[in-house]
Amino acid sequence: MAGPSFDQREGHIWYNGEYVDWKDAKLHVLSHGLHYASSVFEGVRAYGGKIFKLEEHTERLYKSAELLGFEIPYSQQELNRIQIEILEKEGLTDAYLRPVAWRGSEMMGISAQENKINVAIAAWEWPSYFSPEDRLKGLRLKTAEWRRPDPRTIPCVAKAAGLYMICTLSKHKVEKEGYQDAMMLDFEGYVAEATGANIFFIKDGAIHTPTPDCFLNGITRQTVVDLAKRRGIKVIERKIRPEELGDFEECFLTGTAVEVTPVSAIDNYSFTPGTITKTLMDDYTAEVTPTAAAAE
Ligand SMILES: Cc1ncc(COP(=O)(O)O)c(C=O)c1O
Repeated sequence: MAGPSFDQREGHIWYNGEYVDWKDAKLHVLSHGLHYASSVFEGVRAYGGKIFKLEEHTERLYKSAELLGFEIPYSQQELNRIQIEILEKEGLTDAYLRPVAWRGSEMMGISAQENKINVAIAAWEWPSYFSPEDRLKGLRLKTAEWRRPDPRTIPCVAKAAGLYMICTLSKHKVEKEGYQDAMMLDFEGYVAEATGANIFFIKDGAIHTPTPDCFLNGITRQTVVDLAKRRGIKVIERKIRPEELGDFEECFLTGTAVEVTPVSAIDNYSFTPGTITKTLMDDYTAEVTPTAAAAE
């Protein structure tokens, strides 16, 4: 996204109970969240002034905090209310919202039992940048060297900062080689997801998608599974081996940021967006648009 650096924008950020000027929403360098990744966040989107699946995102934020062993010092209703309020206050309709909660500076060490839990919510304009025609060209992905970790090594279903280290490493590496994203395998070598989105494949009229047993079961993923089922399209959640990629005709990613975006290639395998991908792109747009009802 073009524009000023994210610490230099205009507007206000809700920070521990009050609105502060955007440029003043700072934290101390000795914050536990920064050194030990004790931070959880959400990526939420508003369309036409209405936040899509707000309650689900807030619930996930609290679940992520719980998985990291801390409690957010506000009720879910309160954070929902603030997210609606910040859009109005900042005059935003098509926007991205970023709630974040992290351990503060009271103790500096691995143990930080008494540290204050800080909470902030920022929101900024984020229209859909790409026309459906451009998106249909599809993304080019390459398999990452890093893998999604074993669920016994990290709370892998938390949307927690620490889990993004391997995502940034993987995405940077493939971007330097000219790809747009990395496809990550899991610790056992099965297909998992992209660096910030879930992955779907299509073969013989049915959808195949990895079982989310060691990565985020995205809210968009769940929405798209539901939309597909409403269309009577068979959805098979299963373990997918990377050698199977050649069997699939279509591939797409889902996520709050990418919505439903086709993939044109992964390594040496090619995919062409077809009827199912296009239908689900349209159905998703209808589902998130406040005035239009999603396709029955
Ligand atoms: C690693 C990862 N997987 C999947 C997703 C998709 O989740 P959602 O659809 O809830 O945005 C995201 C985005 O939040 C993500 O960061």
